[in-house]
Amino acid sequence: MCGIVGAVAQRNVVPILMEGLRRLEYRGYDSAGVAIIDRNHCLARTRSVGKVRDLEARLDAQMDGVTGIAHTRWATHGRPATENAHPHVCRKTVALVHNGIIENHEALRKEQLKLGYEFTSETDTEVVVHEIYRRLEETGDLLAAVRAALPALRGAYALGVITNHEPNRLVAARRGSPLVIGIGIGEHFIASDVAALLPVTQRFVFLEEGDIADITRDAVTIYNAQGERVERPVKQSELSSDAVARGEYRHYMLKEIYEQPRAIADTLENRIGLHHVYDEAFGHGAPAIFESVEAVQIVACGTSYHAGLIGKYWLEGLAGIPCSVEVASEFRYRKPQVARHTLFVTLSQSGETADTLAALAHAQELGFAHTLSICNVPESSLVRGSQLTLMTQAGPEIGVASTKAFTTQLVALLLLVAVLGRRRGLGSDGEARIVGLLRTLPGLVEQVLALDADVQAWVPFFANKQHALFLGRGTQYPVAMEGALKLKEISYIHAEAYPAGELKHGPLALVDADMPVVAVAPNNELLEKLQSNLQEVRARGGELFVFADADNGIREETQTHVIVVPPTNDLLAPIIYTVLLQLLAYHVAVSKGADIDQPRNLAKSVTVE
Ligand code: F6R
Repeated sequence: MCGIVGAVAQRNVVPILMEGLRRLEYRGYDSAGVAIIDRNHCLARTRSVGKVRDLEARLDAQMDGVTGIAHTRWATHGRPATENAHPHVCRKTVALVHNGIIENHEALRKEQLKLGYEFTSETDTEVVVHEIYRRLEETGDLLAAVRAALPALRGAYALGVITNHEPNRLVAARRGSPLVIGIGIGEHFIASDVAALLPVTQRFVFLEEGDIADITRDAVTIYNAQGERVERPVKQSELSSDAVARGEYRHYMLKEIYEQPRAIADTLENRIGLHHVYDEAFGHGAPAIFESVEAVQIVACGTSYHAGLIGKYWLEGLAGIPCSVEVASEFRYRKPQVARHTLFVTLSQSGETADTLAALAHAQELGFAHTLSICNVPESSLVRGSQLTLMTQAGPEIGVASTKAFTTQLVALLLLVAVLGRRRGLGSDGEARIVGLLRTLPGLVEQVLALDADVQAWVPFFANKQHALFLGRGTQYPVAMEGALKLKEISYIHAEAYPAGELKHGPLALVDADMPVVAVAPNNELLEKLQSNLQEVRARGGELFVFADADNGIREETQTHVIVVPPTNDLLAPIIYTVLLQLLAYHVAVSKGADIDQPRNLAKSVTVE
């Protein structure tokens, strides 16, 4: 949800800022901009509607400065337009980039208008640059000005601010939105995430809530929310610069789909022994906490929520533990009854989703016994705010449509099922069975990826359709939901998922030859019931597209297309079948010429409410 990057160096920072923007573009891509202090100590700014490449096309090749900031935007307040793009500038003196939302911007705008400030955008951000300018006039010092301005702001922000009055200084601040400082030799950087800065450094300082950083070429000085000078540890990133490269793949999404065997293997590494799962994988104090847990509450958004829904089937069915699942944007405003000894579990790829973070804070206020986050980004706000953590090892996920993060979340949930179930009747045999099956999973996903060409062959049946239905039963119902979400978000075909047994209660009315119906049909105890539901579709002229085990009796015939999936244990079926639905959505979207990695109106990590 907007990406920011900044640099103070001895060399020209423009190429560093532009590369940073390219790497942050997944966070927002409706407009972009860059501002520097040039060699004559003047503020120079270029902004553009569209993607980073559009900004690049407008950039003056001579743009050259040693201090600068840049931004790629996902519009919240104010439509995508050049005047709403960041950096925002006040009186040719202060330039600022912002990620977040300023909730009291209208009140501040009224006050500043009275003071004679001129507004050139519709954004909530512009009040911040005026507020800092106003304080700069009073104090003559950028750090003091930012410090004085921040208490007036209500909402969330990560900020980078520069002024031509102090050409070798960059001030950064964070509250509610992520921000890291990159440590170089004689140069320093800021960015919304580590990946943006990997070409220039692998050493990072993660700012805490309320921190303000005073950054020059030679020093980084950090003050906490109370204004005290603090030391924050410097961490070495394990990621290499090309961990976020697309390689030979046409899109990040395809690369990430194909990375799933590796991502799953990495998520299992050092977490499982011969027959059991190590409690310690969940962090310090995990064994004692797991002993006391009597119920689980899962909260997440979007794709991560779908993983949570599958987790509920497993936690209740295998581990014998009551489990509720809720979307974070609802949970955060509800007053639920908190059962004793309930473990509050958040699922998130980014660890920065605003609703999920707010739900965690709400849970802590409500008095949930313990918190666990299953997350893909170490040092994210969610990880830092949770008592226990289990990191999925998917690696950076750049495509906006989540793929490998989802399947590794499911793996992590199975690890949770094992450690909680062991204490509640799953038994060591049950745990050993889960561990044994998990070991086979990377190989099974490889086999399923080999069906890619078969999936592609279905594309013509979908490409010109307006709607599609996805059906599943049991754990395959959330899989169908995930398949429908993938198709709609990248191909813009309206897709709905239903538990197949619900068809006759309404949606069957929609079925005709123009409504492809996709069914995920592994061979399990619900198969016969699902087969009857599929007959209901065929009888109404619907065309079926079924992913099924070889021995499940569903045959290819008129109106019924079948892709035979290698036999899979029911426990692993949600992961296996999801991979096929990811491929289907991907190929349909490619055939429609859609922007696969950056679908319209979306952004990767949703750091605003
Ligand atoms: C869909 C998708 C989103 C995210 C959701 C939560 O493909 O990626 O629905 O799953 O925005 O994001 P995280 O998992 O980062 O909290």
